[in-house]
Amino acid sequence: MKKILIIGSTGMLAFDLTRVFKEDYEVIGVSRADFDITDKSAVENFTKNHMPDIVINTAAYHKTEECELNPEKSFSVNAIGAFNAAKAAKEIGAKIIFISTDYVFDGRKEHYSESDAPNPLNVYGASKLAGEILTKIANDNFYIIRTSWLFGIHKSGKGHNFVSLMLEKAKNGENIKVVDDQFGSPTYTYDLAAKIKELIEKNAPADIYHITNTSSCSWHELAEKIFELVKLNPKIEKIKSSDRPSSVKRPKYSVLISENLKKQGIDNLRPWPEALSAYLDEIKKACKMLITVK
Ligand SMILES: NC(=O)c1ccc[n+]([C@@H]2O[C@H](COP(=O)([O-])OP(=O)(O)OC[C@H]3O[C@@H](n4cnc5c(N)ncnc54)[C@H](OP(=O)(O)O)[C@@H]3O)[C@@H](O)[C@H]2O)c1
Repeated sequence: MKKILIIGSTGMLAFDLTRVFKEDYEVIGVSRADFDITDKSAVENFTKNHMPDIVINTAAYHKTEECELNPEKSFSVNAIGAFNAAKAAKEIGAKIIFISTDYVFDGRKEHYSESDAPNPLNVYGASKLAGEILTKIANDNFYIIRTSWLFGIHKSGKGHNFVSLMLEKAKNGENIKVVDDQFGSPTYTYDLAAKIKELIEKNAPADIYHITNTSSCSWHELAEKIFELVKLNPKIEKIKSSDRPSSVKRPKYSVLISENLKKQGIDNLRPWPEALSAYLDEIKKACKMLITVK
């Protein structure tokens, strides 16, 4: 059985990667308690001791407001850490998979394929782009996976994902204000994890791959769809990005499309409303199980 090392195992995407891979692979999950990705020799020693065939690096410092104030830490985790993981994998002949982001683009176009030139607007995006470049430099057996607007069952290091945040706000009867002038593709971590597995199993060549649920929306449209699916009707106020001053410049459009998946004869994911509905069903099932156990 092949071995896979998942770095960032306490995270939202890592939870679904573990669910998807554990059926056919021996999965080793590592969190910050096992090693800090910025510690080169700790990453190398752990990797050599366990000899995985594939390393998936999901670790990230991605609270965008904090990244803006702390570029050293952003580049240390997202870029130098990416280099350490890719190099450690290279030394034992393993593949490295680096998870990157739509924030490497500036949002001046309505959608971006893998052949479009990145031009990040903020520190987080710049540090992830540096992570992509350093991953490629350290290990030619790589996949760089760019994705966007993740939601999943497990809590993210950022706290709530957007979907769970909306449900929490509605439950608390809070005023809900959502921007309607930023557009992207919401992506279910379970779907993304399954597509990464397919990429490996189809032995796709080393390259950048954009993987998101297909079709796009604004944050406001996403909020409306969430409440339609859970049959709630809270008042949602439509606002503009300029109504919410922030130190972080965000791309207006960060919709990712994929030419590289198509070249390999691999379909992209189902449309985001279907994925959202499946995710909400899964949450409902999990809640029912919890109530039954109590
Ligand atoms: N969330 C999104 O909407 C989104 C969108 C596009 C791309 N991405 C990318 O997708 C990936 C997964 O995102 P996610 O939301 O699943 O992340 P997450 O839930 O925040 O998980 C990140 C993981 O990285 C670990 N980590 C952080 N700093 C570390 C360090 N210095 N050394 C070792 N481990 C460290 C965290 O450990 P601790 O638990 O100890 O902090 C956690 O296990 C990230 O690379 C992110 O950049 C995310």
